[in-house]
Parts: sequence; structure tokens; C-alpha cells
Amino acid sequence: MAHSWIPQATDDGSFTFFSETFGETFHSTQGARAEAFVKFVKATHLAEKATRDRLNLLDVCYGLGYNTAAALETIWTVNPACQVQVYGLEWDATVPAGAIEPPLIQSWSPAVQTVLKSLAEQHVCQTDRLQATLLIGDARQTIDPVIQSGFAADAIFFDPFSPRRCPQLWTVDFFQRIVRCLALDGTLATYSRSACVRSAMVEAGLTIGTIPMNDELHPTHEWSQGTIGAWTTAGLHPLTRMEQEHLCTRAAIPYRDPNLTGSAEAILSRHQQEQKICRRESTSSWRRRWKIT
Ligand SMILES: C[S@@+](CC[C@H](N)C(=O)[O-])C[C@H]1O[C@@H](n2cnc3c(N)ncnc32)[C@H](O)[C@@H]1O
Repeated sequence: MAHSWIPQATDDGSFTFFSETFGETFHSTQGARAEAFVKFVKATHLAEKATRDRLNLLDVCYGLGYNTAAALETIWTVNPACQVQVYGLEWDATVPAGAIEPPLIQSWSPAVQTVLKSLAEQHVCQTDRLQATLLIGDARQTIDPVIQSGFAADAIFFDPFSPRRCPQLWTVDFFQRIVRCLALDGTLATYSRSACVRSAMVEAGLTIGTIPMNDELHPTHEWSQGTIGAWTTAGLHPLTRMEQEHLCTRAAIPYRDPNLTGSAEAILSRHQQEQKICRRESTSSWRRRWKIT
């Protein structure tokens, strides 16, 4: 039976859903739409890249399609002729289907609404300037045909539920698959600033930078709103010393899933074992040292 999702308003007036399975909302409650624009589209410099003739996007955990939608709005505002290819990976087809109901769909332009509807209903969208495919299933497996096609993404939006709730998608092993789809000058963006996520990205071969605060989403004193991964440091905001030291603590032991089939429980329990025997500084002592409450 189709799941009926109940729209929940976020602080910028846009809507999100709440997942009973993962116990989390799909977006920051500070603003679902703003999150897509700030943490994913702006962080991957898509407005600047949109002057190119073509762009490739990989949307990991497509969900309601906000990151793809915000990217297309941005790209076609700058360059209406830009040819875009998109792969979206999503486990639950009822989520994109729920997101094309009013009022959710109404915040997007007519052209982008057409794309979201086609992806939700047919899982493909082909127009004179877009080739988009939504692959339904576990992203740990649906990434394979994308890799095999030789896809080189200019931007990867990496947006699973939080590491503790969905560790399967934050492992070194999954990042190693994902980075095979990243173009040489491409950028991966995620909202997570967790040390275990950052160290998994580094172990997968990426250079990482921080997504600094002081923007429209977080006017106050948090220390980062996410992480950027790329093959080189060009255009990255370096980690602060505090963030670098975070990567030397116990919190930076990454999740592992060598066969890409482990359950959340198995991955968390293996991780706990590794943390227990490691000799690194505890994360609470790092917090005290940097006066993080
Ligand atoms: C935080 S939400 C993504 C929000 C989305 N990017 C958006 O803008 O609406 C996480 C998504 O990951 C999906 N998901 C969970 N486990 C997955 C898996 N193993 N493979 C692919 N998608 C998964 C969930 O169904 C959910 O839609």
C-alpha cells in the first residue's frame, strides 16, 4: 500500500516529511528548501559551474528531490541552455511520489515541477536539456550501474539520514564506491560535520573542507554546517584547527561495511568494538579543550 506522508512545515515555510523508520525529519527543521540551496547547491558552486554547456549531478538519497530541484533552478537561471544529466538514488519510491502533492511541489518553477513529477511517476525524465534517472533500491547496490556507465559527476549531493540512524550509507566502503563517480574537478557536499564521516571521506581518497557557518540558515555560533569533498584543495575552506583535532579523536573512527550489505546494527556494533580498543583521545576531552558544550 502507498505510504501517505504528512507534510511538516519548516522555519522557512517549506515542507518536509518525518520518517518513522529512521526517527528523523528528511531536512533541517530550520528550513528544508534553504538547506538544499545552501548546503548542497551553493556548497558545490553550481551557479559558477552553470556557465558550462553540460553538467552531471549525482543525488544520493533523492528523497523529496529538493537537492535536484534546487540545483536545476540554479543552473537554468544562470544558463537556460545548460544540458544536465542527473542520477538520483533512493530506497523508497513513495517519498518522491509524496513530494509531488501540493503544497510541497508548488514552491518550484513549472519546468522543475515537470521534472519532479516525471521522476516520481516514471523514474525517468528526458527533455531537450535534461536526462534524469531515479534508481530505486539500496544505494549501496544501485550505485553500481552508475559507476559502470562511467558517469563523472560535477556535483554529488550526499544526503542520507544521520550517521547514527543510517550508518550503512556513511561507511568508508560506500564512499569508496561513490567517489568513483566524482569528476576530477567535481565536488561532493554533505550536511554532516561528524568526525567519523570526515575520516571515511578521507580514507576514500578525498580532500575535505568545511562548510562554514554565518549564512542565512545559521546566523549564530555553531562550528560548521557540513563537509565538502574533492580531489584537490582548490576552492575548499580548510578545516579549522579545532576541526582537525576532532579527526584525531575516538569519534573519528569510521564506519565499515566491507560487503556493502551489513545491517545498521552490525555496522554500529563493529564500530563500537573498534572504538573500545583504540588509544585515541576521547571526544569528551576534545570538547572540554575547545569549550564545546
Ligand atoms: C535525509 S533524507 C533525503 C532528503 C532528500 N535529499 C531531499 O532533498 O528531500 C534520506 C533519504 O534516504 C533514503 N534512504 C534510506 N536508506 C537508503 C538506502 N539504503 N539507499 C538509498 N536511499 C536510502 C530515505 O528513503 C530518504 O528518502
